[in-house]
Amino acid sequence: MSVQTPEARPLSEEADFLQIKSIDHVHWWVGNAKQAMYYWWKAFGFRPVAYSGLETGNRRFASYVLESGTIRFVVSAPYHPTDEMAAHHLLHGDGVKVIALGVDDVEAAFRATTERGARAAWSPREESDGQGVYRTAAIHTYGEVLHVFVDRRDYGGVFAPGYQPLALEADSAGLAAIDHIVGNVELGKMNHWVNFYHKVMGFRLLQGFTDEQISTEYSALMSKVMQNGNGRVKFPINEPAEGKKKSQIEEYLEYYMTPGVQHIAMATGDILRTVRTLRERGVEFLRVPDAYYDVLPERVGAIEEDLAQIRELGILVDRDDEGYLLQIFSRPLQDRPTAFIEVIERHGSRGFGVGNFKALFEAIELEQARRGNL
Ligand code: FE2
Repeated sequence: MSVQTPEARPLSEEADFLQIKSIDHVHWWVGNAKQAMYYWWKAFGFRPVAYSGLETGNRRFASYVLESGTIRFVVSAPYHPTDEMAAHHLLHGDGVKVIALGVDDVEAAFRATTERGARAAWSPREESDGQGVYRTAAIHTYGEVLHVFVDRRDYGGVFAPGYQPLALEADSAGLAAIDHIVGNVELGKMNHWVNFYHKVMGFRLLQGFTDEQISTEYSALMSKVMQNGNGRVKFPINEPAEGKKKSQIEEYLEYYMTPGVQHIAMATGDILRTVRTLRERGVEFLRVPDAYYDVLPERVGAIEEDLAQIRELGILVDRDDEGYLLQIFSRPLQDRPTAFIEVIERHGSRGFGVGNFKALFEAIELEQARRGNL
């Protein structure tokens, strides 16, 4: 079932009715929460701050909350095969189930979005314990992903009722904030979801990339970036485009089985240190051909960072009118070639690295070919 695109509302110039304050958390549904927690903790330097599971009275699933800077990830896995989390895992493997959005008024956010055509997942509800009241409501977006509206202003506990604090130290890699979260949708559905974010959520189109801009000899994709009213939340939407061979988006859809979250970009203030740390801890990144670095100074001009280190670490650079950015993409984080992460450091540029797309996608295609999927 898909979201109906509402027709009655005017296209634009509505106030920012959702008033999203932040991305409250990203909830991964996985096969083994304990091991997923260890990966985010030991490789990515997230600090485990809360746990829910059998020992806390949760008979349904094991769940860990981890934080790095303002980023909050939750990883959960079910105890029983009949749980909806188990069905989700059977279909998708590990993946993002929830992108939760912090708001001051859950009731208003739920009403505003469902009136504009969002499909409800659950209506406003309150959970409480000795630490206060935790309010949520949820709507469906692409694939099986939910947007959960969260109001934690009256909740003083560590994450949500049912969770107990964990006192564990972490060695931060410098991942500070979520920059953007990208969704892959089916062929021909990009504009449907662009409309959804515009009409239902009050987002605006920030940038669009055509398949001519994002194509290699073999494959292509199209992408549009949607941004919320205050600019804090950016959701690019990708769809595959016709190419000679299978695009990376098609490969994703073939293994995730439905649309879903493709990558989460996390900002750092020192990408050289962050990437060096992550590499040392075994995080694998894509590497573009060395020729990329031979023409880099000519392409992007002067940058603050040491080019030898940029090349050594495999970091990509792009420049636009407003400044430049540094970015790098990991290999898939799980066995299926589905979700991955990006590390990004911005120096004025608000772009997404369009100048890197070609080199990058050629690198991805090399990996696709190794997987027998090109
Ligand atoms: Fe990105």
